[in-house]
Amino acid sequence: MKAEPPLLQALKGAVTKRPPIWLMRQAGRYLPEYRALREKTGSFLDLCYNPERAAEVTLQPIRRFDLDAAILFSDILVIPDAMGQPVRFEAGEGPVLEALADRAAIDALAPERVEAHLAPVYETVRLVKAGLPERVALIGFAGAPWTVATYMVEGGSSRDFARTKGWAAADSEGFAALLAKIEAATLRHLIAQVRAGAQVLQIFDSWAGALDEVFFEDLVIAPTKRIVEAMRKAAPDVPIIGFPKACGLLYERYAAETGVDAVSLDPSVPLDWAASTLQGRVAVQGNLDPVLLLAGGETMRSRVARILAALGSGPFVFNLGHGVLPPTPPEHVAELVALVREGKAA
Ligand code: CP3
Repeated sequence: MKAEPPLLQALKGAVTKRPPIWLMRQAGRYLPEYRALREKTGSFLDLCYNPERAAEVTLQPIRRFDLDAAILFSDILVIPDAMGQPVRFEAGEGPVLEALADRAAIDALAPERVEAHLAPVYETVRLVKAGLPERVALIGFAGAPWTVATYMVEGGSSRDFARTKGWAAADSEGFAALLAKIEAATLRHLIAQVRAGAQVLQIFDSWAGALDEVFFEDLVIAPTKRIVEAMRKAAPDVPIIGFPKACGLLYERYAAETGVDAVSLDPSVPLDWAASTLQGRVAVQGNLDPVLLLAGGETMRSRVARILAALGSGPFVFNLGHGVLPPTPPEHVAELVALVREGKAA
């Protein structure tokens, strides 16, 4: 029998001899070979929808570093794009969408377009899977409904999410209809990625930390729980990692109530608290500050040792607390991977 990839073992609750490691945004602008391909390709979304090039970009960090997983190169905002709310990425500005104006705009969204519109993404998954060694797992992903909704309602990035939260407060029924559309599209997208070869799924809820407890329950926990339940039926063997970034003590309820197999921790989560409160129930992933990877040196080394010491005796996946920053020297990533491979705890 073939051995299961270490990432899958850890996500299913095993304490592995060395923790598996992968990094959010491990493909991207910090790699010269990414920048070269990106320059040839036009817009960022053109790259996401070009299977050969997106597969190449996904595999670039795997060729350089001894990582335990590849993450599909795509974006969470392909979901509004597929449902009929076009997305553009402006250089230096981030994503731009025509903000949803009213209930009619929500009703016009079409989750049933996902499979056709995102066919190139599933082709990318197939190409990557064919190019990966058995022990390297392939991670598919989606944004969580709340985080995707913020971009659709604000028309792009936001500081305070005033329009989105305001809509949820003033018209809870209309906002629930929006989340339901995103949820339906997300399920279709996750199922299609698994059919194409994704072995693990991660749900990015980057703006979960912007919500009070009541909104967190209704807009983060409830939709995530429904997605996890539906995926258990559609793909019972595919572990799911949830990343409700910066949600503080609410990590505990998220881990207890959504049904995810693992939670990804942002850098602010205290390690001993995570070990005692979360790790008995789910696997944990994280949580080195990406700025410490950028800085490198002794501070990075001692923080890595501290994370391994605190979390290494339970089910654990080494990662950053957020994505690799573009100015990060690739040599620092090589050193980080080697440190985790040695498994040296302080
Ligand atoms: O982790 C990976 O390497 C997989 C690919 C991936 C990307 N985006 C590629 C990307 C994943 C998993 C994402 C998720 C994503 N996208 C999130 C959730 C995680 C997080 O960062 O909080 C969010 C909020 C988005 C939306 C998004 N995409 C924004 C706000 C931006 C612009 C800001 C930025 O970081 O450049 C993007 C663009 C984007 N997505 C890039 C990459 C590599 C940069 C594009 C480029 O110029 O090359």
